[in-house]
Amino acid sequence: MRRSPYHSLFFVVAVLAATGVVTAQDLGTARRGLMPVPASVEWKVGRLSIDRTFTVALSGKTDERLRNYVFRVMRRLEGRTVLELSRGTLTEPANAALLIETASTGNAIPKLGDDESYKLEISDKQAKLTASTTVGAMRGLETVLQLLAGDKAGFYLPAVSINDKPRFPWRGLMIDSARHFQPMDVLKRNLDAMAAVKLNVLHWHLTEDQGFRVESKKLPELHQMGSDGNFYSQTEIREVIGYAADRGIRVMPEFDMPGHATAWVVSHPEIASAPGPYKIERRPGIFDPTLDPTNEKTYKLLEVFFKEMSSLFPDAYMHIGGDENEGKQWDANASIQAFMKQKGIKSNHELQTYFNTRILVFLKKNGKTMMGWDEIFQPSLPKEVVIHSWRGQKALAEAAKQGFAGVLSSGYYIDLMFPAREHYVVDPLPADTPLNAEEQKRVLGGEATMWSEWVSPDTIDSRIWPRTAAIAERLWSERNVNDVDDMYRRLGLVSIQLEELGLTHRKNRTMLLRRLVQGEDISGLQTLISLVEPVKQYRRYQQRPQTMLSPLTGLVDAAQADADGVLRFNQAVKDALDKNSSTRNLNEVRTLLANWREAARSLQPVMENSPSLFEAKQLANDLEILSAIGMEALSFIEAKSVPPNGWREEKLKNLTEIAKPKAALEFRVVESVEKLVEAAGGN
Ligand code: ACM
Repeated sequence: MRRSPYHSLFFVVAVLAATGVVTAQDLGTARRGLMPVPASVEWKVGRLSIDRTFTVALSGKTDERLRNYVFRVMRRLEGRTVLELSRGTLTEPANAALLIETASTGNAIPKLGDDESYKLEISDKQAKLTASTTVGAMRGLETVLQLLAGDKAGFYLPAVSINDKPRFPWRGLMIDSARHFQPMDVLKRNLDAMAAVKLNVLHWHLTEDQGFRVESKKLPELHQMGSDGNFYSQTEIREVIGYAADRGIRVMPEFDMPGHATAWVVSHPEIASAPGPYKIERRPGIFDPTLDPTNEKTYKLLEVFFKEMSSLFPDAYMHIGGDENEGKQWDANASIQAFMKQKGIKSNHELQTYFNTRILVFLKKNGKTMMGWDEIFQPSLPKEVVIHSWRGQKALAEAAKQGFAGVLSSGYYIDLMFPAREHYVVDPLPADTPLNAEEQKRVLGGEATMWSEWVSPDTIDSRIWPRTAAIAERLWSERNVNDVDDMYRRLGLVSIQLEELGLTHRKNRTMLLRRLVQGEDISGLQTLISLVEPVKQYRRYQQRPQTMLSPLTGLVDAAQADADGVLRFNQAVKDALDKNSSTRNLNEVRTLLANWREAARSLQPVMENSPSLFEAKQLANDLEILSAIGMEALSFIEAKSVPPNGWREEKLKNLTEIAKPKAALEFRVVESVEKLVEAAGGN
C-alpha cells in the first residue's frame, strides 16, 4: 500500500531530527510549492545544487516537443535564479544535472487517457526524470520547477523520490471566448498556466448568443455577421491547437445549440424557430433564439459546419452545449407543435433529444464523440455520449449509473467569484459516492468554467488564477489531499510562479487602480481592494447593469475573489479572540484597523475627484466606520469594561448596513469585526 505524501513527510521529519542533517524547517522550504501534490513523495536527505553549470540531457525516444519544453523550463529557471544557463540539451547522460528518460514520445496531439505518469529521483548527484511519454516528462518538469528552493548556500533541488500520476484523465479549463472575445495571447498564456498545474483540456466555448467566434470557410457569413470581426481564423485555431499540444493539452471546441444560438441566426434566420431578423445579443442572460429542430435546412447547414469543424479540430470530442434551452420559440411555433404531434414527441426535452440524435449522426460520421451539458442527458442516447454536469453532482452520478461517462463542472464555476476553498472541497468522486467501481470509472474528471460575461483580456487571468490551481489539484491529486490551509499556502506560491508565464492576475490589479485615479496615490485603494470582493454568483448584473459592450475597468473589475487582506484580518481576529491562548494578542488587529483608518482618510479626497470612483465613495466611508467600530471594540476588550447600554446593538446595526454590497463589491471582513463587537460584550 502506498503512503500518503503527508505520512512520508512525518516519517522524514523524524529521521532528519534524529540525524540532524536537515532541519524540519529546511524540509518545509523544500516541499513548499508542490501543487498539485504528487501521488507519492518520499523526501530524502540531501540536495542537488543548481548553479550556472546546470544542464539537461535527454535519452530514450524523444521529440521536438520535449526539447522545446526543456528549453522553456531552462528559461524559467533562469528567470527565478538570475543565472545564465546553457542553451540546448546535452547528449551525455552521465554529466547532466537533470537526466530525462522517455520510453516513447506518445501522441503528438494529446488524447484522452494518454499516459501522464512520471518518476522523479533527485539525489546529491543528479535528478532523474523517467516517463513513458513526452507528456509525462512535461508533467515531471513542472514538478522539478516547483521543487526549486534557495537558501544561504544557493539554489537547489531537494533529494526526493516522487512517483506521480493523475487521479482523473480529464482535467480541464473552459474558456468562453464568445461573451467577451479573448485574443490569442490570452489563450496562450493561459495554456502555459494550465500546463504548470498539470491541466490537460482546454474546452473552448466558441459560439453563443453574444458571438460566433470561429471562422467557417464553408459558411463564412456565420462568423462575418455573428462576431463584430472578433473571431479566430482557422490559421489561429490551428496555432492554438498546436500550442496546446506542445504542452500536452487537448483542445475541445464547443458549439452551443439549439439554445444560446442568437449569433448563428443573425446570418441564418431561416433556421431559427421564430422569424428574424436577429441581432448579436449584448446583454447577459438566457435568450429565446433557438435553432429549429424540425427544419431540414437546419441539418443541411449543421452537416456542412460539423464536417468542416471536425477536420479543423483534431480532438475526438466535440461539445454541442445543449444548456438552458427554454424552448419558448418552440412553444410559440405552430408548425413545430404540429411536428411534435405528428412524431409523438411529448416535450421540449424530447424534441431536443430528437435534435441531438440527428446531430450525433454528423459527429459520428466525422469520427467525433458527442459531449453536452447535462440538459442533453436522456437514457435513450447512445452510451458513448459524454455528459458534462453543471447543475449538480447528482446528474453526473445518474449518468454514470446509466452507463454514460461524465465530467464535472458543478462546483467549479470560477466566474461566480467564490473563494478557492469552496471549489477545492468539491470532489468528482467523493468518499461517499453512490457509484460502484465500474460506474466510478465513467467519471472522467472535471473542468473549471470561465464564463466571460464580466471579463476582459485585462481581467480574465485574475478570475482564472490562482483559484484554478486548487481545482487542478483536486483533479490530479488523491482525494485525501484536502488540507485547506496548506492549499492556500501553496496557492500563494503558485500564484507568483504563474507570473513568470506572463499571467496578469496580480499585476493588472494595480494597473486598473492607477487608471481609475489618473496619477493619484493608489495606496488607499489598494487597502480597500484587499478587503472587498465582487458580489458572488450572478448578482453583479443586478447591482450594476452593463452589457457586453461596457468597459470592464471599474473598481469591481480590479477586485478579486479571495481578497488578500481578508484572510490576514480574519486570522488576526481569530488569534486575538482565541480563548485557549494565554496571551491574547490584540496588536495585529489594532495595526490592521489603524491601516484601514489611514487608507480610508487618504482615499476620501481621491474618490471625491475621480468620477470613475463616485459609485464606490460609500465604501471609503464604510472602511473608516469599520475601523472605528473595531477600535472601540478593542478598547472595551482590553479594558475589560462593559460597553454602555445599546452600544452593541447600534454597532451591529451599522455593520449590517456595511455588509450590503455597493458598486457590486462587498466587504469580506464584516463578520470578523462583528466578532470583535460580540467579544466586547454589552447589549
Ligand atoms: C451553463 O452554465 N449554462 C452550462
